[in-house]
Amino acid sequence: MPVTKPFSPPIAEYQELLSGIWQRNWFTNNGPLVNDLELKLKKHLDLKHLLYVSNGTIALQIALKALGITKKVITTPFSYVATTSSLVWEGCKPIYVDIDPETFNIDPTKIEDAIDSDTEAILATHCFGNPCDIDAIDRIAKKHNLKVIYDAAHCFGTTYKGKSVFTFGDISTTSFHATKLFHTIEGGAVFTQDPEVLKNMALMRNFGHSGPESFNGMGINGKNSEFHAAMGVVNLNHPEATILYRLLNRDVSDLLPDATESELRTAKLMCHIGQPVKVKHENVESAVLRISLGSRVLAESWKDRDVSLFFHGVENQMNQVNMICQKIKLILKYSDVLNLKDIQS
Ligand SMILES: Cc1ncc(COP(=O)(O)O)c(C=O)c1O
Repeated sequence: MPVTKPFSPPIAEYQELLSGIWQRNWFTNNGPLVNDLELKLKKHLDLKHLLYVSNGTIALQIALKALGITKKVITTPFSYVATTSSLVWEGCKPIYVDIDPETFNIDPTKIEDAIDSDTEAILATHCFGNPCDIDAIDRIAKKHNLKVIYDAAHCFGTTYKGKSVFTFGDISTTSFHATKLFHTIEGGAVFTQDPEVLKNMALMRNFGHSGPESFNGMGINGKNSEFHAAMGVVNLNHPEATILYRLLNRDVSDLLPDATESELRTAKLMCHIGQPVKVKHENVESAVLRISLGSRVLAESWKDRDVSLFFHGVENQMNQVNMICQKIKLILKYSDVLNLKDIQS
């Protein structure tokens, strides 16, 4: 099922990096593009620490292993399956706590009732990139001496109180899967502020190798390749495309004046991960909103037209129309980068 359309950067830029990989004949094992991507991501996200790994699922498993979690973990029932399956894979017991219907995130007011003497951690997902109530969760974790892991798979660029959401919890994890706003085809990352945990996770990512023939603890293969890192490096050359996605994806309430509360909530949350919005309500604005989110209208054919001509009979809504026109013009400006050529009318 196509959930979101992956962002395809200009192919020539990727091919140029591929030529370098061929020349070096260095395909994986902490190569120069992996290092370059890690540096660029830290700069882009204003982070001190980050480890690039092979996907968002292994990121969760490394996080659990690094914190030594083996028993009960309080988690959300509303996430992608990997949040729960990684717990089970690591031999932990998921304990579900219901979500807040407003945010779709775990409801902190229900967490304490679920804690018992076997509870070791809270694993919460920032659903659709909307941060959990981090302050409340951290307060509970401190009170009960629990570790906190945030599954921030949907959160590229998300901030909480002015800081990257990746900096919260004992460990945060993310996914750079092709469907995410920023992607490396397959990929993910782990984040922590604790240098010891970081060192431990770096060892775990590479089988526990502390030297070519020495090991420190037991690890797994969580490395990622030069080919995947290359896609990330190229995608980071196009922050305007990512920003455009963000721009298109916010303030939907202005664009859907007659939508119900629940339609708006769904639209906002889904927009955050770039998913086309489906609302019952159909008017010029919602149609255009769906267009701007990459659904099925031929953006290319609009390139040379005055897009305001599309809006006969909506004179009383000209402010909204103007705003939408600006957004459409931005889409057209970046239509090559956003790979909109194949969109059908
Ligand atoms: C909330 C959440 N957690 C974990 C994952 C797993 O990430 P990956 O597909 O990179 O293994 C996903 C993937 O979409 C996700 O949405």
